[in-house]
Amino acid sequence: MLFQLTYASRTSTILGPGDVKDILQSSSRNNVAVGVTGALCLANGIFLQQLEGDRQAINNLYHRILKDPRHKEPAILDFSPIVARQFGNWAMGLVASTQENRQLFLKYSTSADFDPYKMSPETLRAFFSEVIGNVRWLS
Ligand SMILES: Cc1cc2nc3c(=O)[nH]c(=O)nc-3n(C[C@H](O)[C@H](O)[C@H](O)COP(=O)(O)O)c2cc1C
Repeated sequence: MLFQLTYASRTSTILGPGDVKDILQSSSRNNVAVGVTGALCLANGIFLQQLEGDRQAINNLYHRILKDPRHKEPAILDFSPIVARQFGNWAMGLVASTQENRQLFLKYSTSADFDPYKMSPETLRAFFSEVIGNVRWLS
């Protein structure tokens, strides 16, 4: 059954400049093998990731990601069945904190700071549907 998991976490102090690229490269390498697609946002020191695919595959991947010391304070924000995937690319897309994306963050946030921990599942889904056009894919 197709499911979508959305979680947030905070970057830890050990996160260095090459780490986001490293995470995207690992994701692109590993996720295709388990049939998981998705996108990763990074803004305001917070990761927000949406993963979609088989329920068990997402569960396994999430538990693996939880062990990563580059982030902390993980929180599942939404875990729901979906009819179809949003992301048609096997690579993990990145939504960076560009000027254009910051305006979108604001549109879906209760405050000027990007704080997905406070966003409802509906708001998160609407945010990802809109931000999908601004996702950068690592080639
Ligand atoms: C916020 C965050 C998101 C991540 N997302 C993924 C992911 O979607 N897929 C993945 O394989 N690894 C992801 N990782 C990296 C894993 O924790 C782990 O480093 C990686 O899977 C190791 O795989 P490798 O040995 O093939 O490099 C993520 C890490 C962080 C901090």
